[in-house]
Amino acid sequence: MLALRVRDLVKRHSATAGAAPVEIRLDALDLEAGAQLALRGPSGCGKTTLLHLIAGILRPDSGEIHLAGELLPATAENTRDRLRARHLGYVFQTFNLLQGFTVRENLQLAQRFAGREGTEADAHRERLLAELGLAPFAHRLPARLSHGQQQRVALARALVNRPALVLADEPTASLDDAHAAAALSLLREVCVSHGAALLLATHDERALRAFPAVRDLKPLAPAA
Ligand SMILES: Nc1ncnc2c1ncn2[C@@H]1O[C@H](COP(=O)(O)OP(=O)(O)OP(=O)(O)O)[C@@H](O)[C@H]1O
Ligand SMILES: [Mg+2]
Repeated sequence: MLALRVRDLVKRHSATAGAAPVEIRLDALDLEAGAQLALRGPSGCGKTTLLHLIAGILRPDSGEIHLAGELLPATAENTRDRLRARHLGYVFQTFNLLQGFTVRENLQLAQRFAGREGTEADAHRERLLAELGLAPFAHRLPARLSHGQQQRVALARALVNRPALVLADEPTASLDDAHAAAALSLLREVCVSHGAALLLATHDERALRAFPAVRDLKPLAPAA
């Protein structure tokens, strides 16, 4: 089964101060279960927009997105939220951890949102925390963790609901070479061990060199 299927996706951003309207397109993208692919493109070509569309955070103007075989509906926002919570993990560039909640609570809230609670869910969460070396920090607030630890919390949260697909936006940005390599291999290994496909967006050549499959994004088309 495909973790992700995209067809004829179009998103227009209206003009903002000093910038013309733009049109971001992705004609076709299929990602098999467990596969790993990098989206490559220069700054501003639409990588983050595409990840937001796939995650259902933004709505496309047209086109279709299937997550784990289920169509993300264009209109029913609650259905999109439910599908996203169940099938998708998102490692945001700035992590987007909830600052008022501990590491464990950040994962628990993601589980509750997906309707995954109970003994088995608790055990899975605690295993993930241990696997990522976060058990000793589970009671801490995110602000009291290092950058690398926060990234691991973001990764644990992305995997806590056993998603078919993990999206990662610029996971190596602002890291030196050694930390970038470590972050990328951890991301890739954990997705493999949890059976999640991985789609990452980056313009970091260090990350792209190490990646098995790369898709180059087309330059932006001027919006009609
Ligand atoms: N909410 C918005 N409203 C209007 N234009 C936007 C909006 N978000 C993004 N854009 C424009 O859409 C284009 C793509 O932006 P996007 O953030 O998706 O690019 P990116 O490839 O992720 O860039 P970077 O590598 O710098 O993160 C840019 O021209 C940007 O200015
Ligand atoms: Mg971006």
